[in-house]
Amino acid sequence: MLSWDDFDEKEKIAESSVSKQVLKREETPAPAAPIEKKTAQKVSAEVPGLESLDLEAGLADLEGASARVDVSEKKMINSRADVNQLVPFKYDWAWQKYLDGSANHWMPQEINMTADVALWKDKNGLTEDERRIVMRNLGFFSTADSLVANNIVLSVYKHITNPECRQYLLRQALEEAIHTHAYQYVIESLGMDEGEIFNMYKEIPSVAKKAAWALPFTKSLSDQTFETGTEENDKILLRNLIAFYCVLEGIFFYCGFTQILSMGNRNKMTGTAEQFQYILRDESMHVNFGIDMINQIKLENPNLWDEEMQKQAETMILQGTQLEIEYAQDTMPKGILGMNSEMMAEYLHFIANRRLTQIGLNEAFPNASNPFPWMSEIMDLRKEKNFFETRVIEYQTGGALNWD
Ligand SMILES: [Fe+2]
Ligand SMILES: [Fe+2]
Repeated sequence: MLSWDDFDEKEKIAESSVSKQVLKREETPAPAAPIEKKTAQKVSAEVPGLESLDLEAGLADLEGASARVDVSEKKMINSRADVNQLVPFKYDWAWQKYLDGSANHWMPQEINMTADVALWKDKNGLTEDERRIVMRNLGFFSTADSLVANNIVLSVYKHITNPECRQYLLRQALEEAIHTHAYQYVIESLGMDEGEIFNMYKEIPSVAKKAAWALPFTKSLSDQTFETGTEENDKILLRNLIAFYCVLEGIFFYCGFTQILSMGNRNKMTGTAEQFQYILRDESMHVNFGIDMINQIKLENPNLWDEEMQKQAETMILQGTQLEIEYAQDTMPKGILGMNSEMMAEYLHFIANRRLTQIGLNEAFPNASNPFPWMSEIMDLRKEKNFFETRVIEYQTGGALNWD
């Protein structure tokens, strides 16, 4: 472990190499004529391909932004405070989520898939209904997480003008890449037809409908000419956040997570279930972060949260709930793993109520209860932290597993 003593040593080494350089320089004969002091513009003009680079204008821009950032200037959207300066913090919740996410870093190869491979290859290992559940969910999630990552990077990031939130968005984007990696890792480990699985979001209606529902909300924002700053466009951004955080990540993931984790609870596909358990832990934090962002934007821009917008948000959450119930019916035509599509509909009503109230709307399904209380336990952060502390050490070495 490094200590301050080590740094002292390093500094000594650095100092000695610097003094050697100084000595060396002194030995070098002085140039015959003083070197011309180059202006920024001259430098750029001399570099091929950079003739149009105006460094002086860039420096002037930096000076404009270099006044010390006052916390009161920081805003979620349309802020003029320097986005390159992380502190002083305004939104501690965003920074804390970045720290929590980073503390729970994991990689798909850390999870042992041996038992899953044996079960999947055994013709009598799983029923047809169970196999359908595994395949449909890998089909949906393998593309949905890419959709979420692309939405962050290409649509949302630019318009969230707060550095601590951007720091979390970068963390989330990495986590989405790890999730896509996890699905790919499972698909490859089980020897599935990759073309069939990765194309389900185009070819299987109950999967395709969910992706198709989300796409329009990211499309307008990814247009390079889109800018926030008008009420109309700020509302488009807010709708995107509600679509992706409250519906896509907040509802569309829940039937699949419940099915796969229920399978794991029954000692089937335990490696896949463990991957999903890590992913669900990340996802519940993504949803909480998104809801914090939505509520903060509402707080700072109350004009956006008018009656029409509230109605739209409610409709979006109800549409998402209905699509997820249809997905449950498609993936569970009959009772399986101690659940059926009616129980899943009840659970989704319970989740929808939560999403509605989290952004300040009324419950749509009074008296909806949670038929799967064990799901809440898995998402409980304190327990999850404990879960991470006790995970099997041999998985932490990483590296690809060989199934030969
Ligand atoms: Fe994800
Ligand atoms: Fe996510």
